[in-house]
Amino acid sequence: MKAPGENLRGLFYDIRPFMDYTLNSTKAYHTDTLNTLGWELTVCNALHPAGTPLRRIIARDASFGHLLYNHLNRYAPMESLARVIEIGGGYGYLMKDLLDRNNRLKPCMLDISPFLLEKQRETLRGYDVSYRIEDFLETDPGFLSGFDLAIMNENLGDFPTLVGLNEELLKALADKSDPILRSALYFFERYRLAMPQGAFNLNIGALQAIEKLCAAAVPYIYIGEHSCEAVVPEPLRSFIRVCSTGNPERIALKGHDEYTIKFSYLESVAKTFHYRIVRGPFADFIAFDLTDALQNILLTRGRMGDEAEMVCQFVEDLFQYAYMIMIKD
Ligand SMILES: C[S@@+](CC[C@H](N)C(=O)[O-])C[C@H]1O[C@@H](n2cnc3c(N)ncnc32)[C@H](O)[C@@H]1O
Repeated sequence: MKAPGENLRGLFYDIRPFMDYTLNSTKAYHTDTLNTLGWELTVCNALHPAGTPLRRIIARDASFGHLLYNHLNRYAPMESLARVIEIGGGYGYLMKDLLDRNNRLKPCMLDISPFLLEKQRETLRGYDVSYRIEDFLETDPGFLSGFDLAIMNENLGDFPTLVGLNEELLKALADKSDPILRSALYFFERYRLAMPQGAFNLNIGALQAIEKLCAAAVPYIYIGEHSCEAVVPEPLRSFIRVCSTGNPERIALKGHDEYTIKFSYLESVAKTFHYRIVRGPFADFIAFDLTDALQNILLTRGRMGDEAEMVCQFVEDLFQYAYMIMIKD
């Protein structure tokens, strides 16, 4: 006969060794605390405004949004698109640039942060823009129908990440007790994602966001973010170093942590929905000249001073940050 509590104890010992994963969320930070993006200088903001020092090292003195518009124009008929949704638009600079190039665009800015949505209203004053304060993971999928283009720049790393997973944990608990792990397992099975060996982190929120946009059949989707699968072309490897473990890595920021993005998993989701994919580093559309001076800065890892350090970081970011354009066939 079993002693009272033995079943419970059995369950405890079954589960206990696997209970180490955590869910990283930035929601409270974004809704309650955030009052500047100054601590997390995005590539987009680094090229704002005109005259900013980093503009001097790029081949064409232009803003992030103008360079991105040109690049998107190669794959999407930008002149004939109308309804565009930008999710997590920060200070609104990227959308302002897109509107400069095409004032027929009718943007909707959706953001979780009341502070940043207010900033977007200021930046985009005078344009015909609608605003929506919301966590995109809670957006009604029906709301997305009719948009021609969706943009998510440098924000998927803020979306929830499961930290410290492993295959045994997923398979042991997902079927039984844990809805979060059930959802993680769903992505591996539904989109045939290769299960990593050993401990890993999973960009579960990014997967949910991309699935939502693809299921809504938005014809063109652009995402850009810090990649955990970054690659530097061979001729540049002695100058530019990136971190590329293939596993979403933690980036500690003021008041919250972000995780780098495993783009190959997001690509598998989009391909299942019959999207064609264009993928690469930001350097594909933010070209720079590898002058002698720049080579020197990169080889000395920016140790010659504050500006050199900033330039070195920026050029590395052009390869550490990746984009993916999804085109509905
Ligand atoms: C690092 S900022 C990037 C801002 C801008 N896109 C840029 O490139 O400069 C991240 C943005 O995503 C928003 N964000 C984060 N999580 C979100 C969520 N779950 N739903 C909607 N917006 C979110 C933030 O409030 C912020 O506007």
